[in-house]
Amino acid sequence: MKLLFIGDVFAKAGRLVLANRLEKLKSIYRWDVCIANAENAAGGKGINYNVAQEIFNSGVDTITLGNHTWARKEIFNFIDSCNKIVRPSNYSKGVPGKGRLIIEKNGVRIGIINLIGRVYIDSFADCPFQTADRDISILRQQCQIIIVDFHAEATSEKIALAHYLDGRVSAVIGTHTHVQTSDERILENRTAYITDVGMTGPADGVIGVNKTQIIQKFMTGLPVHFEPAKGRTCLNAVIIDIDEKTGHARDIIRISETYN
Ligand SMILES: [Fe+2]
Ligand SMILES: [Fe+2]
Repeated sequence: MKLLFIGDVFAKAGRLVLANRLEKLKSIYRWDVCIANAENAAGGKGINYNVAQEIFNSGVDTITLGNHTWARKEIFNFIDSCNKIVRPSNYSKGVPGKGRLIIEKNGVRIGIINLIGRVYIDSFADCPFQTADRDISILRQQCQIIIVDFHAEATSEKIALAHYLDGRVSAVIGTHTHVQTSDERILENRTAYITDVGMTGPADGVIGVNKTQIIQKFMTGLPVHFEPAKGRTCLNAVIIDIDEKTGHARDIIRISETYN
């Protein structure tokens, strides 16, 4: 089976890319299931109900999140009842929402786990390695295919987790930096990996944000209001081909498109 994983959908520009481009891309790549990280989907930070529906209506089956999960307080109204959204699983016990779920597409069950890193991003999170052990043992009872979105800053933390999970999950996909890395590969024990899948939204900002505002922030250190960049847009994703009998990955291909 083929899976499309889309990098952090950023603001309205990112949502419009999904609405306008996914159908044509699907006719080329023919995926069975589509996962998108959408932690930046509402105005560049967080997600709300209408934005989530818009993304699902564009053809996304499941949304993963990250450090901006709680940026919009409306999420507390629907995250518990939505069975198509995962937030980092290594948040503290009792936090709303769920960190792992199972979806079924074309008769195949796919387990999805969202994890957040602890290095330079979330020092309050539980250990992502031990949380993955726990979640994999639970999901394994019901599915061969398990996909991990590791939302982290440090490349070393991402690579270490990928090797730790190699052979136990179908893919470890890095998100968060918004910059696509060119290290996509199949690890020794058939887990697909990329350090960061990139972002989907404004192409000419600074990781999605208006470049003038970000430059001002770096040059002055003063508080600056950030807005999504305008202009060209982009889509960053990977297509992963998975043997549904074994859960092993056969191939991972990067997609990086820019639109005028
Ligand atoms: Fe992000
Ligand atoms: Fe993030």
